[in-house]
Amino acid sequence: MIVFCVFLVLCYDLVQAQFPRACVTDEAIKGRTCCPVWKDKSTCGSSSGRGECFNRIVPQMEPVPQFNDDRLDWPTYYFDQACKCSENYSGYDCGECKYGYFGEKCDRKITIVRKEIRELSLLERKRFFSYLALAKITKSQDFVILYTGDRLHKNTYRFVDAAIYDVFAWIHYYSIKPILMWGTFNDTTNYAHKGPAFPGWHRLGLLFLERQIQLMTGDENFALPYWDWRGEGNKCSICNDDFVGGNDEQGFLSPYSYFAFWKSMCSGYNYIDSYCLGADDFNQLERLHRKPGTNPHAPSLPTFEDVEETLKWKDFDTPPYNRKAQKSFRNALEGFINPKDGITPQVTMHNLIHDFLGGTMGESTISSNDPIFVLHHCFLDKIYEEWLHRHNATSDVYPKNDQPGQGPKECATPYFPCYSNEHLLHRAEAFGYKYSTYKGM
Ligand SMILES: *[C@@H]1O[C@H](CO)[C@@H](O)[C@H](O)[C@H]1NC(C)=O
Ligand SMILES: *[C@@H]1O[C@H](CO)[C@@H](O)[C@H](O)[C@H]1NC(C)=O
Repeated sequence: MIVFCVFLVLCYDLVQAQFPRACVTDEAIKGRTCCPVWKDKSTCGSSSGRGECFNRIVPQMEPVPQFNDDRLDWPTYYFDQACKCSENYSGYDCGECKYGYFGEKCDRKITIVRKEIRELSLLERKRFFSYLALAKITKSQDFVILYTGDRLHKNTYRFVDAAIYDVFAWIHYYSIKPILMWGTFNDTTNYAHKGPAFPGWHRLGLLFLERQIQLMTGDENFALPYWDWRGEGNKCSICNDDFVGGNDEQGFLSPYSYFAFWKSMCSGYNYIDSYCLGADDFNQLERLHRKPGTNPHAPSLPTFEDVEETLKWKDFDTPPYNRKAQKSFRNALEGFINPKDGITPQVTMHNLIHDFLGGTMGESTISSNDPIFVLHHCFLDKIYEEWLHRHNATSDVYPKNDQPGQGPKECATPYFPCYSNEHLLHRAEAFGYKYSTYKGM
């Protein structure tokens, strides 16, 4: 993959660029405009009624100063204008359909069913692993990723090619890097975790990967599977070569497993002031590794009861809307508090699975490189979906809060096009999918 990486050298004066490939052209960069021409030869497909080029994507925000974090008030550091798509259209150029819609005119609604990985037939499972293998070696035509060894100096920023799966892994990586404020890095908060954006942000990431795989393969019915880890106790029952791979003592995946030779995007040098440094040298990237059940602080997986206790909290999130939030569904799901009393700080639920698996999954910045991340987050998304139904929740319950990039009207960072965080507090049906019933839920 790295062999055909193209480096675009961008000088600070000239460039504020972003990640749809069509928006890192000189013209788009200088004009601070991400309104690509669609195949009907009009910007944002406007002459076909698909969309319009819109000024100020996040209208209430001031421009982000040069020495501050490039992700703040996403995506205003890079662009003043972007496409706004109408009706069932979507995508950075309105050339795509909204999630759940298909066809040239995006008027065909499809609801796909995400199943537990052990519910898939052997053929379906093999197909899933083949699609992932393809996504790991197929260069993304639509997106490039940002790379720099020195985040303080924006003239060192580069946009490089990446494989489809790696774009997905990178999005998560990029959302977690410490936030740069007035020249200092602060890792107390990030754009995807420790706040109300957590469930919706990850919902959007999964939708992104699912759609990218549908587009890559032409298989519109492809649905991501999930891993229901309830009641598995102290072993990961899918960590064998029929599923996500067994591992050796050191944690490296079995040579006979599907992801044995996958390497982690953005691994190697994980300095706070870099974005993906090392990504140009494939040899320095780590192989995936896992050590399920060997962390004494995370000896076993969450139980059925833990999930039920998490689901009982009726407040989506509570002040101060961070890892200290008490009696908050979001904070219990994310795994910072005991799900039963909603108060005691504890590593549970989402966080516990990461720690239990260890290795790549245990390092938050690079965890998305391991496909078990997808299965794990898909199950969390199912719990989130169950909560939305049980409490009849609508986007009104998404709270105003101080977490950067996590306000109700702010764009989930760094997705493109913009999806507001509150919009992601909607049932899965609205995005064209649902979950199978498995082990009673
Ligand atoms: C959007 O999709 C719905 C559902 O399939 C369809 O009824 C509607 O006509 C579509 N809208 C447009 C403008 O095509
Ligand atoms: C980091 O950010 C948090 C939350 O915004 C803030 O409370 C804290 O003071 C910041 N730390 C530093 C060193 O600036």
